[in-house]
Amino acid sequence: MEILKVRDLSKIYKGMISYEALSNIDLTINKGEFVGIMGPSGSGKTTLLNLVSTIDSPTSGEVRINNENPHKLSADKLAMFRRRELGFVFQSFNLLNTLTVKENIVLPLTLDAADLKEMQQRVALIAEKLGISGILDKRTYEISGGQAQRTAIARALIHSPKLVLADEPTGNLDSKAARDVMQLLTKLNREDEATLMLVTHDAMAASYCNRVVFIKDGRLYNEIYCGDSREAFYQKILDVLSLMGGNGNDFSTVRV
Ligand SMILES: Nc1ncnc2c1ncn2[C@@H]1O[C@H](COP(=O)(O)OP(=O)(O)O)[C@@H](O)[C@H]1O
Ligand SMILES: [Mg+2]
Repeated sequence: MEILKVRDLSKIYKGMISYEALSNIDLTINKGEFVGIMGPSGSGKTTLLNLVSTIDSPTSGEVRINNENPHKLSADKLAMFRRRELGFVFQSFNLLNTLTVKENIVLPLTLDAADLKEMQQRVALIAEKLGISGILDKRTYEISGGQAQRTAIARALIHSPKLVLADEPTGNLDSKAARDVMQLLTKLNREDEATLMLVTHDAMAASYCNRVVFIKDGRLYNEIYCGDSREAFYQKILDVLSLMGGNGNDFSTVRV
């Protein structure tokens, strides 16, 4: 089943000088897939994510999520659509500092006025899965970066969205915490059939995906699938990155 279908998608940023950041992108993500998006800095990764998440609108082409084009919805319906169908994980966690971990996690549910008992059950379940049951009553400034990102992941998944979008979710984490977060995302992908689209610079993080799509200069460059071995996949990713060229410093290759 297709969760995301991007067809002939282009984005031109208009200004003093127009700039075509994405050109004729076609991309389909099926239910239960875990797809990484990689490419040099400036290749259009965030632009693609913003068009899929409806933060920005395409110049031409189409985005369909669960067979609906969110860009055609009215503002009210779009807000609802985003809240119900999508989950977001950011590099900077985006947690609310005045709230506890638990309050941050239930936020998407309180917006939809879910009942209290159901909220409690869902929090307990997902906190258990993510290994943060012991910190639910802490404030966000009392927890580590890795715990903050797990909290953000719990918040992104608490309402069982159709599609989870993550932009550099491991960008602010040390390599141990980054690995833990990727292992958790993999677990959620496998056990709950969560469909994930993850933008990353990091070959280690990308090696946890089932498929990695490479973008260069706003165009699809290549895509590769993970076989039986994550180590072999990691090596393949590094090979494609080096073939793509660009500035080697764009990619962190030190985390194996
Ligand atoms: N709001 C904007 N206005 C004009 N140009 C932009 C804007 N956002 C991004 N760009 C340009 O579009 C290109 C792609 O940017 P982006 O999608 O952020 O790349 P990435 O996430 O792969 O680093 C870059 O050249 C960037 O400078
Ligand atoms: Mg970016």
